[in-house]
Amino acid sequence: MVGDDGFAAVDAYLDGLFGDDDPSLTAALERAEEAGLPAINVSSSHGRLLHVLVLARRAARVLEIGTLGGYSAIWMARALPPDGRLVSLERDPTYAEIARGSIERAGLADRVEIRVGRALDSLANLEREGAGPFDMAFIDADKEPYAAYLQAVVRLSAPGTLIIADNVVRGGAVAHGPSDDPVVTGIQRFNAALAADARLAGAVIQMVGAKGHDGMAFAVVR
Ligand code: SAH
Ligand code: DHB
Ligand code: MG
Repeated sequence: MVGDDGFAAVDAYLDGLFGDDDPSLTAALERAEEAGLPAINVSSSHGRLLHVLVLARRAARVLEIGTLGGYSAIWMARALPPDGRLVSLERDPTYAEIARGSIERAGLADRVEIRVGRALDSLANLEREGAGPFDMAFIDADKEPYAAYLQAVVRLSAPGTLIIADNVVRGGAVAHGPSDDPVVTGIQRFNAALAADARLAGAVIQMVGAKGHDGMAFAVVR
């Protein structure tokens, strides 16, 4: 079994093959780091995967829960058609400002809207506005309410909507039964809800990389 160093080496190898992130993505990470944001953005390989999925789904309307510095948002928005739109939800107004700056510098300001506030409130507002259905949604904010995010996202979906959720394995902690960690129990509730939901065809995939052992859930609304 290859160790964590091997996982990081493979990510570095892949980044070498695909080329470094384009300058706007690198700049977004640099600005986030300078501003002291936590480095909990997706890896470049996972950003590339999100980009591919937007293209595969031919998504024109994408919802993101958890913007941080806009790194995953830029990966996804760059795959949108010119009239496409990404709505990204962020609780922290400082993070949202930094993300807006990076998205603007990436030339994507016309395609990305960042809404500041608690995600459950913003999701309720989107429902009230009739903002759905979205073609794709990426859940990547705080983990305790993940199951509630899933329900809200399904309400903003239509048949064929692709739902992705980050961090659903957490180093394998989800496999070890009841936990005292509310993050782990939140993710376990999410995974169980996804698996049991007859409206969804879903899969949870564990992943390794420079950021260790975690995973993503993928589901399509039937
Ligand atoms: N998708 C980003 C990473 C998101 S990190 C990327 O890959 O680049 C998770 C983000 O969710 C953080 O910015 C955090 O501030 C935000 N967040 C946490 N709880 C939230 C909540 N209740 N509502 C909205 N955003 C929240
Ligand atoms: C962590 C990682 C994430 O990708 C995330 O969205 C939130 C937290 C973490 O490693 O703590
Ligand atoms: Mg994440």
